[in-house]
Amino acid sequence: MSELDGVLRTTRVAPSVLAADFGALREQVRTVLDAGARIIHVDVMDGHFVPPLSMGKQVVEALAGIVHDAGGAIETHLMVARPEEHVDAFAAAGSDVIIAHQEATPHLHHTLQAIDRAGARPGAAINPSTPPDVLSEITEQLEVALCMTVNPGWGGQPFIEHSVDKLRRLRALLPDHVAIEVDGGIGPETAAPCAEAGATRFVAGSSIFGAADPAEAYHAVAQAAGAE
Ligand code: DX5
Ligand code: ZN
Repeated sequence: MSELDGVLRTTRVAPSVLAADFGALREQVRTVLDAGARIIHVDVMDGHFVPPLSMGKQVVEALAGIVHDAGGAIETHLMVARPEEHVDAFAAAGSDVIIAHQEATPHLHHTLQAIDRAGARPGAAINPSTPPDVLSEITEQLEVALCMTVNPGWGGQPFIEHSVDKLRRLRALLPDHVAIEVDGGIGPETAAPCAEAGATRFVAGSSIFGAADPAEAYHAVAQAAGAE
C-alpha cells in the first residue's frame, strides 16, 4: 500500500483552509500538520455553482510542498460549474484527491475518469437536497463520497441534522473501499454522530481555524471522530 493509500484509508479529520488566516496560510497549515492532520481540504468556489468566489490552483501550489513533505495529501473540493474543465489544472498544481459535485456537471462519470487520468483520486460530492442514489452507478470509480452537511458556499453554518440518516443510506450504498466524508458544521459534537452513522473523513474549517488554539481544536474533533 502506498503512503497516500495509507493516509486515505484511515479515518481522518481534514482541516479546511477556507477558515484559515490567509495572511499566515502556510503557518496555519503547518500547525495542523504538526498536530497530526494528514489531509488538507481546499475549497474552490466559482461565483456560479455557489455564489462566493474563494481560491484557485495557486493555493494548492503554495501548500503542496509542506503537505507532501509531511506525508500528507491535498484534497480539492471543486464547488464549480463544469468541474471537468478544471481537473487537469488542479491535479498539476498538486491535488491528490479531487472532488466534483454531482450537481455541477451532466457528465459525472466522465469527470471522475478525467480525475483518474490526471493522476488524482476521484471523489463526488452531493448537496443536502441530493439523494445518495445518484451515486449508485459510479460507486466503483470513487475514492471518496462527500456528503455536504451544510449548503455549499460558506463556512460557519450549522450542521443539518437530517444528514445523519443520509449517511447511513450512503454507507449501505457504497463499497467498503469508498471513504464517506462529511463537510459543514463539523466539530466535536457533530463528528461523533456522523462517525456512528458511517462517516470516515471529517472536514472541519471554523471549528479548527476559528479556535484560539487550532492544534487543540484539531485533537478535539479527531477524538470525537474516532481518528485518534
Ligand atoms: C463549505 C465548504 C466547507 C467549509 C466548511 O462550502 O465546502 O469545506 O470550509 O466550513 P465549516 O467547517 O466552518 O462549516
Ligand atoms: Zn469543502
